[in-house]
Amino acid sequence: MKVAESIAELNNLLAPYRAKHAPVGFVPTMGALHLGHLSLIRQAKTTNDVVVCSIFVNPTQFNDLKDLERYPRPIEEDKRMLEEAGCDVLFLPTVKEMYPDGDFSTLKDDFGTLDKVMEGVSRPGHFAGMITIVNKLFMAVLPQNAYFGQKDYQQLSIVKYFIEKHSIPIQIIPCPIVREADGLAMSSRNRLLNPDERKRAVLISQTLFKVRDMWGTKPIADLRRFVEGEFEKDGYMKLIYFEIANTKTLQPVTDNAKQAIACIAVFDGKIRLIDNVLLNA
Ligand code: PAJ
Repeated sequence: MKVAESIAELNNLLAPYRAKHAPVGFVPTMGALHLGHLSLIRQAKTTNDVVVCSIFVNPTQFNDLKDLERYPRPIEEDKRMLEEAGCDVLFLPTVKEMYPDGDFSTLKDDFGTLDKVMEGVSRPGHFAGMITIVNKLFMAVLPQNAYFGQKDYQQLSIVKYFIEKHSIPIQIIPCPIVREADGLAMSSRNRLLNPDERKRAVLISQTLFKVRDMWGTKPIADLRRFVEGEFEKDGYMKLIYFEIANTKTLQPVTDNAKQAIACIAVFDGKIRLIDNVLLNA
């Protein structure tokens, strides 16, 4: 695996592939890699001549400074995992490379209804920062295909919207959520949980799976009360939001919807975790 720390180095590495029109696959990440990230790399390997992974902890998408400071950065371990997964190029830029002249201003764009709910409300400025870096990374890598996890369903929806709206010739490929054996969605933040918090965290996916089982048999108000009740019983974790949304618009759905997505965000101690499941009646 080759490592590029600047956009110029990256361009040098990718030039031969571009010259022969060989497809470039791209997996943007913030590192602290786990099997969820690696599943995106593996998916990219199946259809591209060269796979680029970026690791960049993007300061503009963190609305909580503490969260940015404590974000794990195990770079040597990440490099080993990427090598094993068959990643060809690691793009590992500095903050200065991605935000020259200390200009941290973010793109002012409109995502319709997509950023007016859930993470958009709970983390002001998060999606503006996210799309700013994704756009910069797309410009640096110029991939044909880019891979995003459904774990961050709202992020995936906004990236797809952005690409279509601005007629950017990149294929966005959604990848399924990879879970731990007990159901917890894999996340870089999981490693920040203490053993007690890690045990409790299983309630998040368990609750979502029960909602999935009950979907279509009970009114949404009952499902909401059930979820709130589960977290009240736990007493340690704090529910930030639970929403049942239209899979395309992300707006709240009514009881007779056939398909929807249940999305949840919780604080497990100081650590903020999100998860979702698709609901089909
Ligand atoms: P990060 O949280 O590192 O996630 C990188 C990619 O891995 C995202 O597309 C995310 O949805 C996917 N991913 C994370 N956990 C997953 C899991 N358990 N199963 C499947 N896919 C999973 O998302 C970001 O970084 C950043 O916002 C980024 C897009 C890199 C912009 O800074």
